Amino acid sequence: MRILVVLLVATSVAAVDLDWWKTALVYQIYPRSFMDSNNDGIGDLNGITSKLPYLHATGVDAIWLSPINVSPMYDFGYDITDYRDIAPEYGTMADFDNLMKRAKQLGIRVLLDFVPNHTSNESDWFNRSIRREAGYVDYYVWSDGLKDENGDRIPPSNWVSTFRKSAWEWNSAREQYYLHQFVIGQPDLNYRSARLQQEMKDVLSFWLDKGVSGFRVDAVNRLYEANPDNYGGRYPDEPLSGNPDTNADDYDHYNHIYTSDLDETYDVVYDWRDLLDKYIHTHGEYKMMMTEAYADVHSMIRYYGTDTRNGSIPFNFSFLGEITKSSTAWDIKTAIDKWMTHMPTGKTANWVNGNHDNSRMATRDGVERVDAMNLLALILPGVAITYQGEEIGMTDGELSWEETVDPQACNTDDPINYVKKSRDPCRTPFHWDSSDHAGFTRGRSTWLPVAANYKDVNVHNQLIAKKSHYKFYKDVGRARRRNAVKYGDLDTRALSEDVLVVTRLLPGEPGIVAIINLSDQVRHVDLSTLRLLPTNLIVIASGVDCSLEKGAGQLKQNVHMTAHCALLLQTREKCC
Ligand code: NOJ
Repeated sequence: MRILVVLLVATSVAAVDLDWWKTALVYQIYPRSFMDSNNDGIGDLNGITSKLPYLHATGVDAIWLSPINVSPMYDFGYDITDYRDIAPEYGTMADFDNLMKRAKQLGIRVLLDFVPNHTSNESDWFNRSIRREAGYVDYYVWSDGLKDENGDRIPPSNWVSTFRKSAWEWNSAREQYYLHQFVIGQPDLNYRSARLQQEMKDVLSFWLDKGVSGFRVDAVNRLYEANPDNYGGRYPDEPLSGNPDTNADDYDHYNHIYTSDLDETYDVVYDWRDLLDKYIHTHGEYKMMMTEAYADVHSMIRYYGTDTRNGSIPFNFSFLGEITKSSTAWDIKTAIDKWMTHMPTGKTANWVNGNHDNSRMATRDGVERVDAMNLLALILPGVAITYQGEEIGMTDGELSWEETVDPQACNTDDPINYVKKSRDPCRTPFHWDSSDHAGFTRGRSTWLPVAANYKDVNVHNQLIAKKSHYKFYKDVGRARRRNAVKYGDLDTRALSEDVLVVTRLLPGEPGIVAIINLSDQVRHVDLSTLRLLPTNLIVIASGVDCSLEKGAGQLKQNVHMTAHCALLLQTREKCC
C-alpha cells in the first residue's frame, strides 16, 4: 500500500512542471492600489480577482501580493498583527479562497509576501512579550539600555531605523527598549529564539497548505543583529559611513555591519527552503521563494544556497539601482553581466524593473525607455518581475506634503525634501481607463491621489491604440514562451554607446534577438559580428518608437532602428 502511495505521488509529480518558476513572469500587485471593488477608495482582494482575466491576457504566470494580512497599516501592511488572517479592508478569507480558485482556473499562481523580520506592535505576540508570558519573553529584541554620565536612561546603541531616528523604543510596561529596524510600530522579531523560528515556519505552512505557490520574503537581511554576548554584553555601535549628506538621525549615516547581512541569516533561509521543498513530494508543486535584500552582490548571491543546501532567488535590483535615464548601452550590459557573472552556475537569474519602494521605471529611466527596459527584463534568462503598471509605462504620481502618508517620507519631517524619500508616488492607484479615478474605484475618493496623466496612460487606451507599451509587453511576453528564451544561451553586446543587442540562441530553434537604440537618432545596426546568428530576421515585437512593424523582414547586416526603438526579432532559419 505504502509503495502504491509513493508511486502515485511520484507519477503525479513527474506529470507536472516542477520548473515552472525558472522562467516565470511574476507580476507584483500592491493590493491597496490595484482595484477597488467596494468603493471605499482602497484596493482589495475582490478587485484583484476581477482583474485576473486582464493578468491572464497579459501573460502573467504568477502574481505576488504585497501583504494582505491584518495590520494597523502604519507601514501599509508590512506591520502585521495576525499572520493567519486577512486585513478587513482587503476582504475576508473567503475572498482570498475565491481569488485562489479563480487564479488556479486561469493558470495563474499566487505568491504571498512573507514578512519575517518584524510584526506590528499591536500583535498578540508583542503584547505577550511585553507581559513576559512564558514562551514569548524573547520573541523580540529587548534591552535594558544604557545610562549616560548623568545616570539617565539612553538607548542600548546608536542604531537607527531605516526610516530615521533611533531604532530603539522604550516600552514602559516591560521597562525595556525594543528594537525596530523600520517604524516604531514594527518591533523586530528575535531569531535567536528557537520557538519564534518554529512559529514563523508554521506561518509558512499555513499558507502553503492553503495552496499558495510560494513567497516573496521581506527585508530578509535584517533578521539578525549582533549578539551582545560577543560584545561584552552590550549592543555595539555601528561605525559612521562618512556620508556628508546625512546627520546622526539618518540611516545612511552609518555602516550597518551589526544590523544587516549577518551570517546566521542564510541558514534560516535555507531552512525555509527545506520546508518548501517538502511540498514537492506532498503537493507535487515546487514552491518559489524570492528574497528581498538591498545589499552588495556577494551578500545577495549567498541566498541562492550552498553546495549542500538549497536557497532562494535573491532579487536582483541592479536595474533599479544601477540604470538611469543617462545609462549607456555599456552601462546596461555591465549591469546585466554583473549578475550573470556572480550568480552560481545552474541557478536562476531574475530581473526587477520596479517595486512599491522605488520610483517607477518610466520616471527613473525615462518614458522613452519603457519598452527597452520591459524588453530586457522579459527576454533575459530567468524570472522577470513586473511591478503593477510598468507594463503600460505608468509614471510616479505627485503628492503634496499634506497628502503624503508613507512613513519613510513623513519621518523626514521635511515638507520640502520629503519627495526624495517618499514611496507614495510609485504607489498611486492603477490606471485602468480614462474615467474618474482612472477606473480604480467607483467611490468618491482614493487613498492616494491618482497620477495626473491617467487620461493618457491607461490600459484601455493602450488596448485600443494601434501600438502601445502594453501591446509590446504582451508580444514580448508571448515570445518569452519560446524555447530559445527559456533555455537558450545568452549573449549581450553593446555595439556602441547607444545600441544594445541581446541574443538567445538554442540549437534547432529559431534564434531570438532584442535590439535597443537608446539614442534619439536613427541607427543602422549591423549584426555581422554575431556569427552564429542566421541572416534573415523577422520582427516579432515592435516598440512604440519603432518604424519597423511586426512581420517586417530585415537582414542582419542592416537593421533599421529609429530613435528609442526597442525591437524583438526572430531568425527565419533555425540556429546554429
Ligand atoms: C521592504 C518593503 O518592501 C517595504 O515596503 C517595507 O517598508 C519594509 N521592507 C519593511 O517591511
